[in-house]
Amino acid sequence: MDATLIERIKRDMHEQFERKGNPEGFPAFHDVPISRYISDEFWELEKKHLWSRVWVMAGREEDAANPGDYFTFDHLRVPIVVVRGNDRKLRAFYNTCQHRGAPVVREEKGCANQLRCQYHGWVYSIDSGELKSVPDERDFIGLCREEKFLTEISCESWQGWIWVNQDPDAAPLHEWFGVPFQQMEELCGSELRAVGPRVMDIPCNWKVTAEAFLEVYHFRFIHDRGGWSALDNRGASMGLLPNGCSRMVTPFSKKACELRGMKDWADFQTFKDPRFIDIPSVNDMIRSTSTAFSLFPNLISPVAAYGFPFIMFWPIDKSNTRLMWSHYAPKDWEGDELPPHWQQRMDEFDFIMDEDKWNMAPMQRSLESPAMKGVVVNYQERRIWHFHETVDRTIGIDHIPAHMRVAQVLGPYIEKD
Ligand code: FES
Ligand SMILES: [Fe+2]
Repeated sequence: MDATLIERIKRDMHEQFERKGNPEGFPAFHDVPISRYISDEFWELEKKHLWSRVWVMAGREEDAANPGDYFTFDHLRVPIVVVRGNDRKLRAFYNTCQHRGAPVVREEKGCANQLRCQYHGWVYSIDSGELKSVPDERDFIGLCREEKFLTEISCESWQGWIWVNQDPDAAPLHEWFGVPFQQMEELCGSELRAVGPRVMDIPCNWKVTAEAFLEVYHFRFIHDRGGWSALDNRGASMGLLPNGCSRMVTPFSKKACELRGMKDWADFQTFKDPRFIDIPSVNDMIRSTSTAFSLFPNLISPVAAYGFPFIMFWPIDKSNTRLMWSHYAPKDWEGDELPPHWQQRMDEFDFIMDEDKWNMAPMQRSLESPAMKGVVVNYQERRIWHFHETVDRTIGIDHIPAHMRVAQVLGPYIEKD
């Protein structure tokens, strides 16, 4: 984040504390149609037009560090294999053999100088997906190898994280996420290691889970610590970024400031927990607030100087979601065993996630109740509206029946840099 942006956010936090209502002229939101969460029709639209068109994070560079290293990726419910070629370039292919459709590789990860299908041994190049050899080829009449390549999809990296996109017309990753990537650059992701992967299945629509991380309105209720909570949502600064992405900077509560030795929430300082080796480039505002980024559609990260999680929401079906997260930490210890301060950090974070799960798990049935007419989104929850607008634009507004859409109103409020 550059100094101008940091100053703008700090000013905005002051203004958020002081405002008496919504800014002059800010559009009123209609209720979000409930069918977006519970209907088969909307779920089918998302499967067909959204998940097949978005960039999603598939793994880390170190998961395929050397030529021939590969890993499979199935969270989109479409089998994909990511492999590093002999030229060291990462590529992603549909993991579907062009003979009779078996998954080419079955292991979660491995290393091979060619991809040999487990079923009848067709062999594909790791550099191009080219069909290199076919056992008993004489038995195939008119087999054209050039037509039987493994199908490649887009695959790009950013700061050690590998992303894939099935849409051949998708904008390049760094263009699509240009603004948030720039604001997150100081996290120096390439220098970090993944720790403590977690999986949590929640019986509700994936958008319900995403929304719970796009606002801080719930914080003092769901994350109550006996009459106090760590954050003060009244001062939260929301940044709407291009392509459905967003940023949220929330000041610490009075009690949290006391515990950290801060005079008040605006006492920005280079707070440093002596137990952690931190990421030195992280700015003082991130160290003295809760700052989070959302990368549309399914990745949220509450960032911090000592390391941070990436939380992802993968739809299992219309009413079930798999939450997966890993923390990314500076490499300040050897081996896989967590040092005590990191174990404590993970335990604290797991506790917060359990509180969110406790909140989200009963929501789907409640949303399906005849009592529920539509979802209300307020001004401080406007990242949720921004997210829904982008869902519609990604699906294609014309594909969505009018009664299921949300109004496209936040365009003028999106930060361009
Ligand atoms: S299905 Fe792959 S070689 Fe037959
Ligand atoms: Fe929460």
